Amino acid sequence: MKKVSIIGAGNVGSTLAFTLIDLNVDIVLVDIDKDKTNAMALDISEASTLGNYVNIKLSSDYEDIKNSDIVVVTAGIPRRPGMSRDDLLLKNAGIVSSVTKNIKEHAPKSIIIVVSNPLDAMVYTALKVSGFDTSKVMGMAGILDSARMNYFVRQELPNAKDVKSVVLGGHGDSMVPIISKCTVDGRSLDEVLDSDIISKVVSSTQNGGKQIVELLKTGSAYYAPAKSVSLMVESILLDQNKVLPVAIYLNEYKSVSGVLVKLGKNGISEEIKLDLTPSEKQGFDHSISKVTELIEVLQRDFFGKD
Ligand code: LAC
Repeated sequence: MKKVSIIGAGNVGSTLAFTLIDLNVDIVLVDIDKDKTNAMALDISEASTLGNYVNIKLSSDYEDIKNSDIVVVTAGIPRRPGMSRDDLLLKNAGIVSSVTKNIKEHAPKSIIIVVSNPLDAMVYTALKVSGFDTSKVMGMAGILDSARMNYFVRQELPNAKDVKSVVLGGHGDSMVPIISKCTVDGRSLDEVLDSDIISKVVSSTQNGGKQIVELLKTGSAYYAPAKSVSLMVESILLDQNKVLPVAIYLNEYKSVSGVLVKLGKNGISEEIKLDLTPSEKQGFDHSISKVTELIEVLQRDFFGKD
């Protein structure tokens, strides 16, 4: 049986476990066995008896992640109202780094999917600490950002049947909706929406995470993030080789960013390079430069101190 371990049984981790119950995999949730996390593991396991029974193991011992095919890292502090994802940089680098050391020790053949923020810098941290191949360490962001854009397009076009958005770049304020590749029922977005409406959709997408943080007040979004990770897990475990936007290390930029990739049983099998318009390319380069700034801070203030 395939095995997925989820580090951090907070809202994203536990919702992800719930989303995976019909996939017929072993699930380990690693967190401190507090009443709340224990309640979630029990609740999800009990729900699974109504479909495909999974005995979710809640563990505080990294020994239990051994032989995982995939380890999903959701551990870290979430944003609070008024904070940007970047404000979490050094604290979450400490958490992700210590989690990754444990993954390296106990599940050295696994594929790592990072969800903690600031996402791209945390992918870099996991990559650097694990020393795993770049095809095996990745971050979930582009699927979530594209889902949010789908939603805001649908708000404008309620009768649309098939909305496909593509959002690349870093998972921050500078994320890049690739308008030239977004379609509604097979037509390009700029054929069906005026440019001022498209601008509104773009800014709602860029603020989508913040909108939820401000409404929730105690943390960030979890249903759409968990569903987004589950698409990645499925594509890997079922070797679907789906084309998905995923944050990976890009050698040519020496940085991390969201690009389209094929995702299968060995992780990233191929990067799909899209033809971007000049302004999309400019946006993409700007977005990567923002991530690179964070990586430079990490190198100076975090890895420099090792
Ligand atoms: C969001 C957080 C999880 O975008 O980054 O909702």
